[in-house]
Amino acid sequence: MRVQDKVVVVTGAASGIGRAMALRFAEEGAAGILVADLDEAGAAAVAERIGDRARAVRADVSVEDDVRAIVDTAERSLGPIALFCSNAGIITGHGVEEATDEEWSRTLAVNTLAHVYAARAVLPAMVERGGGYLLNTCSAAGLVNCPGDAPYAVSKAAAISFAEWVAIHYRARGIGVSVLCPQGVRTGMMREDLEDENLTARAVISSGAVLEPEEVAGHVVEGLDAERFYILPHPEVAGFFQMKA
Ligand code: NAI
Repeated sequence: MRVQDKVVVVTGAASGIGRAMALRFAEEGAAGILVADLDEAGAAAVAERIGDRARAVRADVSVEDDVRAIVDTAERSLGPIALFCSNAGIITGHGVEEATDEEWSRTLAVNTLAHVYAARAVLPAMVERGGGYLLNTCSAAGLVNCPGDAPYAVSKAAAISFAEWVAIHYRARGIGVSVLCPQGVRTGMMREDLEDENLTARAVISSGAVLEPEEVAGHVVEGLDAERFYILPHPEVAGFFQMKA
């Protein structure tokens, strides 16, 4: 999978990893880039930086109609979507005793159900065209439970499981699926935590280094070549999680 001359969608693209991916896809020669985010001004700024090939859409990925609107806008104004990056995510910072029902519902909706809505919205047309690619941003916290945020860890583990389900069931229909499982990336979500020496040490031990979002985007561009279900940027665990079917 190469993004050159292709239409790509990135959610959560106003900042952090999503922003870095959208800008990197532009550098790689994508024909069209749909920048979607709850943060309308942030999405517009990223689209403006890319130029004519980009469109910005304000969307809440926890709302299925919004995700359908992302897909409609991309296909109408840019062309058939080759790659959909479901990347938006939130944290609560709360453990089991502190997290409220509202936080559980919201986190599961944004971090897990949004991937389901994206798959429902893009897969039929991709299958009809004979292929497509989904990249779902999950987290190392969904592979190895991290202390701290209970709803986050559960939502990301479920998101990994969902991506693997799609990979297995749609592989024969030309759909590639990868999950991005970063840890310790210097973004708005992690900046404060990374000031904490203990957390920084943990990130460095498990992934080799605290990464900049641009480095993650580089792993993504390389990893999209993988023909199998692939966990990025953790090649050391990819063997375990490669396609079973
Ligand atoms: P970030 O906070 O910089 O970016 C997240 C973006 O998602 C923001 O622009 C935000 O406005 C948007 N967003 C939040 N809720 C939304 C919604 N309901 N609808 C649409 N957009 C929404 O954080 P970062 O780090 O770039 O996060 C991107 C993804 O990477 C997330 O899924 C996160 O869980 C994941 N991740 C990040 C790690 C890190 O160390 N930074 C580690 C592991 C996973």
